[in-house]
Amino acid sequence: MSAQLQEMPQVRRMTLTDVDAVVAIEREVFLFPWTRGNFSDSIDSGYHCLVLEQGGHLFGYGVMIIGAEEAHLLTLSIAAGSQHKGWGERLLRHFIQVAKERHARSMFLDVRESNHAAARLYERIGFRQIAKRRDYYPAMGGREDSLVMELMF
Ligand SMILES: CC(C)(COP(=O)(O)OP(=O)(O)OC[C@H]1O[C@@H](n2cnc3c(N)ncnc32)[C@H](O)[C@@H]1OP(=O)(O)O)[C@@H](O)C(=O)NCCC(=O)NCCS
Repeated sequence: MSAQLQEMPQVRRMTLTDVDAVVAIEREVFLFPWTRGNFSDSIDSGYHCLVLEQGGHLFGYGVMIIGAEEAHLLTLSIAAGSQHKGWGERLLRHFIQVAKERHARSMFLDVRESNHAAARLYERIGFRQIAKRRDYYPAMGGREDSLVMELMF
């Protein structure tokens, strides 16, 4: 009898060799994607850049900075074909764990006002809207507000 062993998905640090795969997902899921340079600069700057992968296939990632006891989640994405399986929540919880280990007392993020799927995920985890930034994001035919959300640890 032969048993097929499937490698478990794992979270690990993003490296420069991941950037092509990350940008491919970025362009798939965002209308206004981050550039290669945004990701390579984040890695070079020592930001907390994590990826989700299974068997060498990268399917999610995020970037966080921590300073003055505050963590800021700058971006979080799951490839379109892997969404709605709990991976976004899993990766977000991993970032929260890292932030707590680094003695952050809260986490902040911005989310487009129209991005209800992401806002639902953040609310489910316990984030609360604390402010709105007018015209924060580029949008088709103009600008869009961001909702500023905070999770207190
Ligand atoms: C926002 C994003 C990161 C969420 O990732 P995700 O992996 O789809 O998130 P989850 O699977 O944890 O949760 C999404 C939904 O799937 C549901 N779900 C989770 N596991 C499930 C499963 N096994 N079966 C069915 N549904 C499931 C969740 O309950 C949740 O439902 P909701 O939409 O009613 O809230 C993802 O949609 C994404 O990358 N979007 C594009 C980029 C983006 O907008 N990023 C955020 C910028 S602020």
